[in-house]
Amino acid sequence: MGDIRNIVVLTGAGISAESGVPTFRGPDGLWEGHRVEDVATPEAYRRDPDLVLDFYDQRRAKLASVEPNPAHVALGRLDAEWKGKLLIVTQNVDDLHERGGAERLLHMHGELKSAWCLSCGERHPFDGKMAGYPACAVCGVSGHVRPDIVWFGEMPYRMEEIDVAIATCDLFVSVGTSGAVYPAAGFVQSARYAGAETLELNLDPSEGSIFFNESRMGRAGDLVPEWVDAVLGG
Ligand code: APR
Ligand code: ZN
Repeated sequence: MGDIRNIVVLTGAGISAESGVPTFRGPDGLWEGHRVEDVATPEAYRRDPDLVLDFYDQRRAKLASVEPNPAHVALGRLDAEWKGKLLIVTQNVDDLHERGGAERLLHMHGELKSAWCLSCGERHPFDGKMAGYPACAVCGVSGHVRPDIVWFGEMPYRMEEIDVAIATCDLFVSVGTSGAVYPAAGFVQSARYAGAETLELNLDPSEGSIFFNESRMGRAGDLVPEWVDAVLGG
């Protein structure tokens, strides 16, 4: 680890699985009980806003009963102690990284606890239910507050920052993501192109597993603390 200065960590639903937040794909995944196109597209929101708002209201409410696990806490410690550059890019919309102490963190697919008002265009912190069509905290207009979530067909947030971080990193680590959704699934190849080492920590090999220099298979709650100990100790 001697010459590692700049680290990018990409996380997905697998890092929150041990906290009790369901992943998307797989037998108990969220997409098993729902059709993606019914709840996670702008078209679904236009067609049946109540269904979509309720889906995210339930997921937001669930955050009150889950806690960060050792993987989130280890990344919080990495953030506090790592003297080089670090960017944690999460595809997750839960708030478990923040609660695990991470600060150099970016939510590329949005956040459950953020609202986006389509009337004034502003985003604001939100905890509660959108299905009752609350007034926007910024402009006061009711009926146009949507989840601040990047749906299928929408552009992920802060891609320029992510691209710069990946192009200048020495180590790219992917945790708990299936590698099924682009652009995040392509980050490993960009990191390789930039000359970075690449490491995957996942329960099963992801779809892009072959692109990593090294893959360790296991639970995030075991693998992430082990890896962070090694990076901070080395
Ligand atoms: N530890 C580590 N990895 C785990 C664990 C665990 N305890 N449990 C599950 N995993 C792995 C699975 O093997 C799988 O590869 O986490 C991955 C979860 O994959 P997905 O459910 O596809 O989640 P993710 O990759 O984050 O999905 C990407 O898809 O639906 C969209 O916008 C949504 O951000 C999401 C994106
Ligand atoms: Zn507004």
